[in-house]
Amino acid sequence: EEEWKLPPHPKIPKGKKVTIIILDGWGENIPDRFNAIAVAETPAMDHLKTTAPERWRLLKAHGPAVGLPTEDDMGNSEVGHNALGAGRIFKQGAALVDTAIETGLIYEGEGFKYLKEAQPNGTLHLLGLLSDGGVHSRYNQLQALLKGCADQGFKKIRVHVLTDGRDVREGSSLDYVTTLEHDLEELRKRGVDAQIASGGGRMAVTMDRYENDWGVVKRGWDAQVLGEAPHQFKSCLEALKTLKENDPKLNDQYYPPFVIVDDEGKPVGPIVDGDALITFNFRADRMVMAAKAFEFEDFDKFDRVRVPKIKYVGMLEYDAEIKLPKHYLVAPPHIGETSGEYLVHNGVRTFACSETVKFGHVTFVWNGNRSGQFSETLEEYVEIPSDQGISFNVKPEMKAIAIAEKACEALHSGKWDQVRVNLPNGDMVGHTGDLDATIVGCTVVDKAIQLMLEATEKVGGIFLITADHGNAEDMVKRNSKTGEPVKDKKGKYQILTAHTCAPVPIAIGGPGLLKGAQFRTDLPTAGLANVAATFINLLGFEAPKDYEPSLIEVVE
Ligand code: 3PG
Ligand code: CO
Repeated sequence: EEEWKLPPHPKIPKGKKVTIIILDGWGENIPDRFNAIAVAETPAMDHLKTTAPERWRLLKAHGPAVGLPTEDDMGNSEVGHNALGAGRIFKQGAALVDTAIETGLIYEGEGFKYLKEAQPNGTLHLLGLLSDGGVHSRYNQLQALLKGCADQGFKKIRVHVLTDGRDVREGSSLDYVTTLEHDLEELRKRGVDAQIASGGGRMAVTMDRYENDWGVVKRGWDAQVLGEAPHQFKSCLEALKTLKENDPKLNDQYYPPFVIVDDEGKPVGPIVDGDALITFNFRADRMVMAAKAFEFEDFDKFDRVRVPKIKYVGMLEYDAEIKLPKHYLVAPPHIGETSGEYLVHNGVRTFACSETVKFGHVTFVWNGNRSGQFSETLEEYVEIPSDQGISFNVKPEMKAIAIAEKACEALHSGKWDQVRVNLPNGDMVGHTGDLDATIVGCTVVDKAIQLMLEATEKVGGIFLITADHGNAEDMVKRNSKTGEPVKDKKGKYQILTAHTCAPVPIAIGGPGLLKGAQFRTDLPTAGLANVAATFINLLGFEAPKDYEPSLIEVVE
């Protein structure tokens, strides 16, 4: 208990309510017409930037600053919220898998040995996001695994692909499948029977999250395990082309499920007893539900019809708390001693809220990928149900106002010291690539911010507003040197659905903030990991010694 106690901050008093607002997918970029945030009416955020420059700054939210391998890696919600909540930088899944593959250790661990129990007769299945977004998975890792698994003696390999178009360019799934077909051809030349067995778009098939819609996982199960889907094709390329010809508005994210069949019309690779399976996503949130379907004996979310007895491993352990899956290839980062854990040990009462699609980000991921509360009495987490079964450009308002209202209630109730929310619109609507809808989404976010700023004002509190990574501030692909938007061969602007490498704003203020408290100027390269020490200070405590330094100083 003693080692959890934080000393009082020498200047900042305890007892002020602190509102923490995380804007999902809200970066800083040149204000042209493809910057949805700049185009949107955002008086609250503009006011903060222009009226208190010593309490507004930018933070790094991508690359090594959030534990990703290189400066070219855009940020994402998982690594962003990990850094925000944990106050330190951890090497993340993407980097850990890279190392395990480079060193070959991935083939020496318990996970791979377990997988090999399916030899000599079992088929090896690989299921995951086919993309090099580096957010959930990366193609070069799949490529290395395919080769490595053949080297390790698997004679029959089937790949179940989920097309992306969300972390990478819409339409690019054709390129990834073409590359994959080449790589499988190489394996066939070596005598390995290697084929794509099924497919579907990531938002329609398998990769739901936070139990928003189990139907998504069921569609995947039916295609991958049972070999049943509304569409059958002779090849994956044919599937992608035909489905888009038949429905030109279809995008990579939403391909319906399909199975690949042989000349007799039989599926080439349903998952059956005795097989082995790797889910090759390293990121957990959108693979946990499928992992449960593959692994849980008691499972009642949908009728699995046939449950194959297989050797199943995850690329990573997706949930260390419940040990899911039991077998995995690479151990996840251990993110302990997070801010939430410190705060409950110091009696700070926390209320956290978002809507379903980001709820886990501001709770589970914030707490170092840990389920539940640290304290049932000192913490309350509220989830507002997200709209289901729609693409968020249809309802870009999402639940931002409802989230803000919950936060305001929590502030006024007097029951909480820290009130923390995630406003999803910039990210979730930004991922649809719909610029007009994203502008609406950002406008609503600003209104929600205004509500929470007013409530913070009324209770004499302090606010801290920041974001987890960029998205809505750039909706077009740009020339990396000039920053000019690029057009495709047909002269159309290339829509950017993905996150960005942009820095994100952070602003502090409110009547409870000590007069001389402002951002230090000696931390020019600070990133999201510096935020935890900052809000711990605002709550009146010194931050743990091993945390990245606080962003604030108090001048006389
Ligand atoms: C997703 O899973 O929706 C995207 O791949 C990443 O978005 P997020 O990191 O904002 O959740
Ligand atoms: Co996102």
